[in-house]
Amino acid sequence: MAVDLLLGLQWGDEGKGKIVDVLTKDYDIIARFQGGPNAGHTLEFDGIKHVLHTIPSGIFHKNAINIVGNGVVIDPVIFKKELDNLAQFNIDIQSKLFISRKAHLILPTHRLLDAASETAKGKAKIGSTLKGIGPTYMDKTGRNGMRIGDLEFSDWKNKYRALANKHEAMIGFYNVDIQYDLQELETEFFNAVEALKELTFIDSEEFLFNAQKEGKKILAEGAQGSLLDIDFGTYPYVTSSNTTAAGACTGLGIAPNKIGGVFGIFKAYATRVGSGPFPTELFDEDGETMGRVGNEFGATTGRPRRCGWIDLVALKYAVQINGVTELMMMKGDVLSGFKKIKVCTAYKYKGKEVTHLPYNIEEGNVSPVYTELKGWDEDLTKLTKADQLPKTLNTYIDFLEKELEVPIKIVSVGPDRTQTIHR
Ligand code: GDP
Ligand code: IMO
Ligand code: MG
Repeated sequence: MAVDLLLGLQWGDEGKGKIVDVLTKDYDIIARFQGGPNAGHTLEFDGIKHVLHTIPSGIFHKNAINIVGNGVVIDPVIFKKELDNLAQFNIDIQSKLFISRKAHLILPTHRLLDAASETAKGKAKIGSTLKGIGPTYMDKTGRNGMRIGDLEFSDWKNKYRALANKHEAMIGFYNVDIQYDLQELETEFFNAVEALKELTFIDSEEFLFNAQKEGKKILAEGAQGSLLDIDFGTYPYVTSSNTTAAGACTGLGIAPNKIGGVFGIFKAYATRVGSGPFPTELFDEDGETMGRVGNEFGATTGRPRRCGWIDLVALKYAVQINGVTELMMMKGDVLSGFKKIKVCTAYKYKGKEVTHLPYNIEEGNVSPVYTELKGWDEDLTKLTKADQLPKTLNTYIDFLEKELEVPIKIVSVGPDRTQTIHR
């Protein structure tokens, strides 16, 4: 049985959490493959909004097992908070949520290092979520990291101490003023580790291999978005993992020839939180309206998201790199009332029009070339069927499909599970 992937195609926050929740009824296993608590995945049903950071977005469905894969980095403190938030929902966590022994641990000092690095960068800061993501993946690739499986051995605190000591010395090298009380952070960390140890740790690659053999349906849930990919994103303003399709292979131990559908999610416009280039960013009333109507505030940090028109140069690039087989367009409802909708179909770059993403899209290097389409006035949020969509929205969808050469199979018209139109 092939493994399907669900990935964000922009700069994150496309609505992955919502769609994973919608799709979970058709899957036996939902598995996160990269990122960590820098992610904030929102899902809404029965009038309740849930935000998940590390736990996969299938957790509210009784039929599915949720796996935190080896490619994920886990902060026990945040993980415990997520578990505490779920406690009231009567979920059998022990039998529904498994963690890979090979997933790496975020230590309190990783978070401090993240803060020190960002402070030292000054204006050039990445705009990290300050969850310790970069330093944890650095320790992973530097072969210094601690893994979930280490917690099953009695000497794990010695390993922890050695690594934390090294981190403290490294914080000193940055020569910036970072205030912290390590003892307090450690007490919180050690308590959270004990809570984490109550959960089931597995060799997730083996588990998933057997599940595939048994014909189980698996959906891999991505975090962040393709333009934040460590290799293919707008480097250095990216996250520290492979957010693109290949990341699901390394982040779960899925063989490339076992990948089936690749579902790419995008917003009907574009947003970005944190620093870095964003060619179609708006600084006018239109951008302000998108942010306000779309409630564009980070689910993890609460920071306002930068907003702009959809960028087909970047989106096409993401579709290619991921091998997207189906598209899902989110937040079309937010654009209701815009008289004109702009679509960036090319960049002006070094005096020429280009339709591929140049190496450097820093501000001033590229300027977007727009095609204008007519907007729609209708409120979409109550619609349930594809044949109810306004004509001008259908024209917009047709235009995007033609440019991206992949069908748009889901149109999302609101944050709730039910506000989802299948085409
Ligand atoms: P993720 O990180 O990709 O899971 O996305 P986030 O949860 O960070 O951000 C998406 C936001 O948009 C959340 O607040 C969702 O509740 C909301 N959302 C998702 N789909 C829609 C939609 O179609 N319309 C509207 N208005 N909001 C949506
Ligand atoms: P989800 O899964 C949007 C951004 C940060 C910053 C950069 C690096 O909810 O879509 P990091 O903390 O990873 O070192 O930050 O990446 N970023 C996200 N932006 N959605 C996310 O996740 C993000 N995770 C990280 O804002 O610019
Ligand atoms: Mg998010």
